[in-house]
Amino acid sequence: KFPAPFTVPFKVPPVAVPAYRGLHTDYYDMTMRSTTKEILPGFKTEVWTYNGYFPGPTINNYRGRPAVVRHVNALPAKHPRLGYDATTSVHLHGSDSLPQYDGYASDITWPGQYKDYHYPNDQDARTLWYHDHASHHTAENAYMGLAAMYILHDDVEMATTLPKGRYDVPLVIRDAAFDTNGQLLFDDPEHKGIFGDVILVNGSPWPVMKVERRKYRFRILNASVSRGFKFALSTGDPFTFVGTDGGLMPRTQQVTSFRQGTAERYEVVIDFAKYKIGQRIVLKNLGVKNIVNYPTTGNVMAFDVTSNSTDPTNNTVPAVLYPAESAMMLTEAMATKTRRFEFIRSHGHWTINGKDWQDVIDSGFQMVLADPNLNDIEIWEFVNDSGGWWHPVHIHLVDFKILDRNGKPPNPWELGGKDVVFVGENETVRLVMKFGPHTGRYMIHCHNLVHEDHDMMSQFRVDPPHD
Ligand code: C2O
Ligand code: CU
Repeated sequence: KFPAPFTVPFKVPPVAVPAYRGLHTDYYDMTMRSTTKEILPGFKTEVWTYNGYFPGPTINNYRGRPAVVRHVNALPAKHPRLGYDATTSVHLHGSDSLPQYDGYASDITWPGQYKDYHYPNDQDARTLWYHDHASHHTAENAYMGLAAMYILHDDVEMATTLPKGRYDVPLVIRDAAFDTNGQLLFDDPEHKGIFGDVILVNGSPWPVMKVERRKYRFRILNASVSRGFKFALSTGDPFTFVGTDGGLMPRTQQVTSFRQGTAERYEVVIDFAKYKIGQRIVLKNLGVKNIVNYPTTGNVMAFDVTSNSTDPTNNTVPAVLYPAESAMMLTEAMATKTRRFEFIRSHGHWTINGKDWQDVIDSGFQMVLADPNLNDIEIWEFVNDSGGWWHPVHIHLVDFKILDRNGKPPNPWELGGKDVVFVGENETVRLVMKFGPHTGRYMIHCHNLVHEDHDMMSQFRVDPPHD
């Protein structure tokens, strides 16, 4: 029932057009609705979309120009097969949004309602994404298709010679499983994770992209519910890393293969100039331990070199980039406090320091795992004792720098500002971060969305500054 790999043409999600361009702000209208798409040839798959697209449209922004997105929930009252109420909450992952616009899990919008989300766009250029975050149904909602890219540009990035325009390409990568009727299959009684046997890039199974003999910049988002990838090129040639979750890396890095957990974003440049016209380069997945890998999940997509370069501009990668405010400037010595967080599975349930999201709900949303003051710099130590599982842990609001993993330096591709960190089995990972620019309550959770929903999620509170 699957198409042969590299037969479906590659496509890029459409760019969202503002409903209204104000003097200072762009206004978007987004409607979440159910529709069907032919993902596998011959099957109409029901998906949930932003404005009818799977994945949703990319929202392009420029630093200093805020955006307001009206998200209308026009989904059916209940999920057609799973039966839960189709409530939504939209999180802009990577944004320092105010708490009331951050997609708080319990700040839900019911079918027939809408909410306006205000996005400051006041950070360094970066690759963000927006996805559903509704309490206890994030995994199903995102899996149905409620996920998309959001790109923030700035002057620093635009002044670089990195590939731009049609050579700056989003790759929203995720897995999926289908039943015999071609419907998305969500089957995970033990709450460990969903691992599909089909790899979708921008909604297409194992697509093939035509490329010119020149450099391309790819913004890779792992939008899977649970799957981690280890990416490599069939040629064994390196990727040049230029960006991470928090935007440009201070120094670019050469890496021949890299691991990417759920929700992580990496920006890489691939140089196709060295290949001949007619050559095919395959993006492979070498697989990550402790998850379900299938023979079909070893391939991701292919690049077919079909012509010489038609545009010689923006075709070099500087060794040094100059992000204005990278979390990489933070040092261990700046921190005034260290906190420890243990990621544990107990009684078939995922917790952080023994607490879960239900504990937050039961406390009337008062319980917090940490209460830094505004502008405090702290070290957070993530300890994974959950026996054979890894957790891609996401902290809302802030970017952090990874200090070490079991005392060893982070991987070369992690040498940039991050907001998700891969915490492997029996690992202790230390991060340093500065709390701001807002006070209020923000979530921290595992971004294996099944773990998040059951119920490895909690919150911290940023309090007003010390005087
Ligand atoms: Cu990408 Cu709290 O999520
Ligand atoms: Cu987890």
